[in-house]
Amino acid sequence: MQQHSTSVPFEQLFRQISPEEAGDSFNVFTLVGRDFFAVTAGKEEHYNSMVGSGGGLGLLFRKPTTWCIARSDRYTLELLKKEQTYTLTFFPNEQQNRMLFLGSKSGRDSEKMKEVQLTGIQTPAGNMSFAEAKLIIECKLTQITTPNVDDFYSQEDRDNISEANEDEHTERQFVFGEITSVWVKKDE
Ligand SMILES: Cc1cc2nc3c(=O)[nH]c(=O)nc-3n(C[C@H](O)[C@H](O)[C@H](O)COP(=O)(O)O)c2cc1C
Repeated sequence: MQQHSTSVPFEQLFRQISPEEAGDSFNVFTLVGRDFFAVTAGKEEHYNSMVGSGGGLGLLFRKPTTWCIARSDRYTLELLKKEQTYTLTFFPNEQQNRMLFLGSKSGRDSEKMKEVQLTGIQTPAGNMSFAEAKLIIECKLTQITTPNVDDFYSQEDRDNISEANEDEHTERQFVFGEITSVWVKKDE
């Protein structure tokens, strides 16, 4: 089975905007918390995506930055650490179910990137995303940090992180990445 990708030039589909314009155009709470997103790492020859549902956009050391949360055993995280660049991709409502498929199984031991009904597309910088996206944020890895239960001050959050880290082989990690480019779908 072939991985679906497009030969349509990236810049024919997407227009670059600044992080500030993205902040004006999109509501981060609905983007991240309601619609979710795909985290994608790797290059055209081999890339992998997972669904993310926590994180945000802001400034870290004055640089526009994204953060997201990934369990340490995610295959996407493995590729992200190797490449040190990745994309966060946000989809229109009608593509939501296709995107959610990327959260249904790991690409480490499945062919999900070939099965997913989305079209891979390479950014001019060589990162991978999807032609169906409404918003693509390209990131350069800044930091991966592993929160400890003692870092949290409310019992609810302490319970959350202990539960997440219950499996002794995996832990929840926070991934910070400097925003290198932001792209929005051109009006069709
Ligand atoms: C709606 C939804 C939200 C998810 N949010 C996260 C998340 O924020 N962090 C995470 O590590 N996994 C999250 N997952 C699970 C991963 O997307 C899933 O385990 C995926 O198959 C991992 O793929 P990979 O091993 O190929 O990277 C979510 C899954 C779904 C369906």
